[in-house]
Amino acid sequence: MQKKQGGYCVAVVGATGAVGREMIKVLEERDFPVAELRLYASPRSLGESIEFKGKGVAVDVLPEDPPDDIDIALFSAGSSVSKKAGPAFVSQGAVVIDNSSAWRMDRGVPLVVPEVNPDRALDALSATGKGIVANPNCSTIQLVVALKPLADAFGLERVVISTYQSVSGAGQAGIKELSEQVVSLFNNRDLNSSAFPHTIAFNCIPAIGAARDDGYTEEEWKLVTETRKILALPDLRVSPTAVRVPVFACHSESVHVQCSRKVTPKQARAALAQGEGLVIQDRLAENEYPMGGVAAGTDDVFVGRIRQDPDDDCSLNFWIVADNLRKGAALNAVQIAEALDEGLDQ
Ligand code: A2P
Repeated sequence: MQKKQGGYCVAVVGATGAVGREMIKVLEERDFPVAELRLYASPRSLGESIEFKGKGVAVDVLPEDPPDDIDIALFSAGSSVSKKAGPAFVSQGAVVIDNSSAWRMDRGVPLVVPEVNPDRALDALSATGKGIVANPNCSTIQLVVALKPLADAFGLERVVISTYQSVSGAGQAGIKELSEQVVSLFNNRDLNSSAFPHTIAFNCIPAIGAARDDGYTEEEWKLVTETRKILALPDLRVSPTAVRVPVFACHSESVHVQCSRKVTPKQARAALAQGEGLVIQDRLAENEYPMGGVAAGTDDVFVGRIRQDPDDDCSLNFWIVADNLRKGAALNAVQIAEALDEGLDQ
């Protein structure tokens, strides 16, 4: 990738998916310098077209041999596609910003949340870089945006996190399954489950992703390893629980942090108020706190219910909410592209 004054040739791989469509919207909304947009998906989407800046852009089948004129490729088509096609795009001169879990824990691939570690993005273009920047898991992104100012101000020892994750985190299939099950329930029809292992309508499922031998799920373990990598705190203790809940948009998270020093909710609010991309909504008596039904479609990470642990002066509990398709995926990916573009200026 080289700096281009006239804009970049940008590809979206997985353009017809829940995140891919949001990426296209965010590129337009933020007026990212796109000279040409290429959209790729599976053969199922052949003939589709998606609007960008008032014009329809045709969706092509992802080619085995990518073209050599793509500058930036935003991938959100699943791990197996990223593993195979990511390096193929890089070998043709593109930088890949990958939303799958394929490359996140690779030592040669930076894992970037621009509010936390924007400078790492350029590592992908260095002599030792692989030309790939990984976009973290949706639940991790909103967590580290809130943890960063607390880590800087008070030090972090331990994080206990429980997630309440929307069905859009499972892509178009997850959104369709919840909609169809709700309609079926109200019409006394049988329910079908394929995106989730159980009925998700009016139900919470305490398991996301594959089961690990240690009793955790892969989704939970992403919270542990990705949080450590992004915050550059390899010894941070993280204790996760990930739950799928029957809402369409936004992930909510209940977070307990143990800091290295004493911290009051007032001091925490002051530190969080300085954090980038964070909005504090924290007036319990007035019923003001973050809620996914309100935050959907927005870009910030909302934090509230900030309170002292009843038994520990160094620990706090709080609640965070963000739109998982935007800050948790598409927006973060486009912000990485912006960080690369800005970095190339210097
Ligand atoms: P398609 O719509 O043609 O199946 P989601 O996570 O919302 O399900 O979206 C996944 C995205 O990844 C979709 O755009 C989907 O395209 C795309 N995709 C899935 N498998 C492949 C593949 N083998 N090659 C290219 N794109 C793929």
